[in-house]
Amino acid sequence: MRFRRTSLIVAAVLAAVALPARAEDIKVGFISSYSGANANIGPYMEKAMRLYIQLHEKDLPPGVKIDLIVRDDTGANPDKAKQLAQDLVVRDKVKFLTGVIFTPNALAIAPIATEAKVPFVISNAGTSVITTKSPYIVRLSFTLWQSTYPLGTWASKKFKRAYTLVSDFGPGWDAEEAFSKAFKAGGGEIVGSVRVPIANPDFAPFLQRVKDAKPDALMVFVPAGKFATAVMKSFGDLGLRAAGVKLIGPGDITTDEELPAMGDVALGVTTVFHWSAAADRPANKEFIAAWKKAYGNDSIPNFEAVGSWDSMDAIFYAIREQKGTLDPDKTMELLKHYTNPNSPRGPIAIDPATRDIVQNEYLREVRMVNGMLQNVELETIGTAVKDPWKELNKQ
Ligand code: PHB
Repeated sequence: MRFRRTSLIVAAVLAAVALPARAEDIKVGFISSYSGANANIGPYMEKAMRLYIQLHEKDLPPGVKIDLIVRDDTGANPDKAKQLAQDLVVRDKVKFLTGVIFTPNALAIAPIATEAKVPFVISNAGTSVITTKSPYIVRLSFTLWQSTYPLGTWASKKFKRAYTLVSDFGPGWDAEEAFSKAFKAGGGEIVGSVRVPIANPDFAPFLQRVKDAKPDALMVFVPAGKFATAVMKSFGDLGLRAAGVKLIGPGDITTDEELPAMGDVALGVTTVFHWSAAADRPANKEFIAAWKKAYGNDSIPNFEAVGSWDSMDAIFYAIREQKGTLDPDKTMELLKHYTNPNSPRGPIAIDPATRDIVQNEYLREVRMVNGMLQNVELETIGTAVKDPWKELNKQ
């Protein structure tokens, strides 16, 4: 009897010792694309998040660890994204949702974030309206209005006649509207606008129409990654570059990791964007160096990776401020006031009124530097730019 009681006590003590002394791991549900359109972009985003975690986990409160749970939404597939988010929330009990390349997916996830009160930190999807769809959304990426509205103003001083070609979904509609509005306000004329299907587009017939209209400039938005390379190749093959049409757009069309695959047709393409791999800001140089150390000297990160890196920085901030014990409303309050003077893209902040990113926009041109095609930042075309769509549509 005595022996049994002693062994029970010993067992209890052992159990107590074996129990982790630290708080439970904080689960972060990461949704991105590993198949379908943009299948190669998910890994860039995940690599950025894992690298951030690896380098900064020591800065979390003692014992707190991050458990990144990765899910494949298979491309622009809102039903799949919704189901994944639901499972992450209900079954895995994640404390954050993050990632998401495509706008339709982000829109499908928004009501789940609201119902479950799970903060949703968007690291790519860029249609302006998204952040209005849930009070639990905060965006660490960009909006298409932020780049294409200043691009339209700049272009109106250089060109008289412009054509627009965009993918036929949220970010494309935003790019078309923002660019056209600013270009026309500056005295330019939009001589044609075409929307191409998001799935398996053949750009040739659309670009032929553009060529026949002989515009001075063509503004293009297609999802970055392989789509951007496809449109660039078609632009060259159909002789638009040779005919003197100037290709311009948001930075999606000259996404850094694809520049080597695009080749010389990309030379001179002018874009407005919030980040470039070539930028010589110290924080960017540090980011690029850490990336190359982890993933190899030939690996070039892209803007989706930067959005993911900054998303994780914001998540870490919310965790640190709450000493590892999270309340979703407190998390949102903290994220609304998140700032980082030293992102790889320059100073960034969240606008507490809209939960959208505030950042600089740079005018860039693709040039050959040290034998490599690079998005060279020519000037800061806008400082601390808030989403212009929200600014113009304020009640
Ligand atoms: C989006 O769906 O919002 C999206 C997708 C790809 C991009 C930019 C935005 O390059």
